[in-house]
Amino acid sequence: MPSLDPETRRAISDRIRYYNDLGIYDLYRQPVELLNSAPKIESEAAVTMPTASASRASAPPTVSSDPMVSLRQIREDLGDCTRCRLHKQGRKQIVFGVGNPRADLMFIGEAPGADEDEKGEPFVGRAGQLLTNMIKAMGLSREEVYIANIIKCRPPGNRTPERDECETCSPFLMRQIEVIGPKAIVALGAVAAKTLLAINAPMSELRGRWYDFRGTKLAVTYHPAFLLRDPRQKKETWKDLQMVMKELGLKAPEKAPA
Ligand code: URA
Repeated sequence: MPSLDPETRRAISDRIRYYNDLGIYDLYRQPVELLNSAPKIESEAAVTMPTASASRASAPPTVSSDPMVSLRQIREDLGDCTRCRLHKQGRKQIVFGVGNPRADLMFIGEAPGADEDEKGEPFVGRAGQLLTNMIKAMGLSREEVYIANIIKCRPPGNRTPERDECETCSPFLMRQIEVIGPKAIVALGAVAAKTLLAINAPMSELRGRWYDFRGTKLAVTYHPAFLLRDPRQKKETWKDLQMVMKELGLKAPEKAPA
């Protein structure tokens, strides 16, 4: 049997874990001839995963070593999601995530707000402007990193996401993280930190150090919306971002973001 490249191997194990999360454990290999005749394989490197059972998955899902293709697949799997109550509580659209599918650095916020719900892109409102400035201060651009949220639909009135909403939605974020394979993740604010790390502690204790998140380095810092309310914490946030820059080998510009 030919050996698989590490990216494809990772994509396949991600897909198997996803099936396991759904309670599906019996997976079967499909003959290569069938792969060649399968419709809609989006890149040369795409491979088809075995169906869990004929009734559950009549069209074999596709995983690919091209992260763009894999992200598109995750978006397709989300569909016009109705898995939690938020779909009927005024969301205009699903806010999937944006940026470089091969980003070294991923920022993960809480949930879309009104501006994000309107535009379909995370962090495009006032907090987003501050995040964009923070990214620029690190010597990067929004296009170079990947930005997503714990949940993909706007909660009514921008309330804090409920635990079950986070639990329902975050498996899709986990798949995005696996596909992108960042070197570092920055969790923005308590909801992101607590959901990803399953730790309940105040932000002042959570920030300022590295965590291991499924083999990836994860740092926690203040949410930009909080910084708009309490700009004194920008200094601490900048320290967190400098820690991230050091890890990624990014050269520190002279001054902190305004
Ligand atoms: N706050 C978040 O946590 N995410 C967004 O996308 C916008 C604001």
